[in-house]
Amino acid sequence: MIVTDSEKTISALCSDWRAEGLSVGLVPTMGALHRGHLSLVKTAVASVDRVVVSIFVNPTQFAAGEDLDRYPRTLQQDCEQVKKAGACAVFTPDTVTVYPEGFSSEVRVSGITEGLCGAYRPGHFDGVSTVCAVLFGIVKPEVAVFGMKDAQQLAVIRRMVSDLRMGVDIVAAPIVREADGLAMSSRNRYLSVEERGQAVLINTGLEKAVSLCRGGEKNCAVLKEAFLQTVSNASKLRVQYAEIVDPDTLLQVETAEKTVLLAVAVFAGKTRLIDNVLIRPEV
Ligand code: PAF
Repeated sequence: MIVTDSEKTISALCSDWRAEGLSVGLVPTMGALHRGHLSLVKTAVASVDRVVVSIFVNPTQFAAGEDLDRYPRTLQQDCEQVKKAGACAVFTPDTVTVYPEGFSSEVRVSGITEGLCGAYRPGHFDGVSTVCAVLFGIVKPEVAVFGMKDAQQLAVIRRMVSDLRMGVDIVAAPIVREADGLAMSSRNRYLSVEERGQAVLINTGLEKAVSLCRGGEKNCAVLKEAFLQTVSNASKLRVQYAEIVDPDTLLQVETAEKTVLLAVAVFAGKTRLIDNVLIRPEV
C-alpha cells in the first residue's frame, strides 16, 4: 500500500490505474479511524478495483472554538488498519496541498445545508463540500463512500455531485455501532466514563422511536418525544436538536407515512455527538 502526501503522486497513480482499465474508489476521512471507517473502506473494496483513503483534517469545516486543534491524529495506526481492510493507497495531503496559495473557490450547497447540523455549524458544510470537490478533482474516483451516520453530509455530497455532474457514484455505508449501541465516532474518545455510560441512551432513544412507529404511531411529534424522554434524565446529555425529516430533502415531516429520518445532535459533556435512524412505518 502506498502512503503519500503528494498530489502529483496520487493523481498519477490513479490515472495509471484508470489507464489499465481499473476502477478507482475514494474514502474521504479525517483519520482517527475506527471500525465505522473500516466498513467504508470494505464497502469501497467490494465496489471497485483500487481504493484510495484520504486522511486530511480539513480546517475549513471547523468553526472557531471547535476541536480542530485537538482532533485526534493517529496516522500510523490508521495506515495499518486501512491496509488490512484492502486499501491500495492513503493520501495524506497537508493544508497547503489542498488549499494552495491563491485558492479562492468554495462549493456551497444551499437548502439542505440550512437545517439540522447546518443551523448550529455555519459554514461547516461549505468546508465539507469544497474539500470533497478538491479530493474528487485529484483522485477522480468513479465511486466515493460516505457513512450514513453523517446523514446530512451524505445528502449534501449527493446534491453537489448531482448538481455539478461530477460523475462520482456516491455509496452510503450503514452506521457501525459499539456493542451497546453507541454509534462509532472519532470523537467518542473524548468522553469521560460517565458521559460514555450515558451516551448509550442516544441509540436507546432512537430505537424507542423506531419501535413506537412499528407499533403504528406515525405522528412525528410523538416519535420525537419518545427520543427526548429517553435522554432527558441523563445529567451529562444535552440535546442540541432532534428532528424528523425526509431523508433526501431533509425537510421536516409531520407524519411518518413513508420512510423518515430521525436525526439528532446531543452533547455528552462538551462532546457533540450526532446519530440518526431511518424509521420505516409498517405498511
Ligand atoms: O466525514 C468526514 O470525516 C469529513 O467530513 C470528510 C468527508 C472527510 C470531509 O473532510
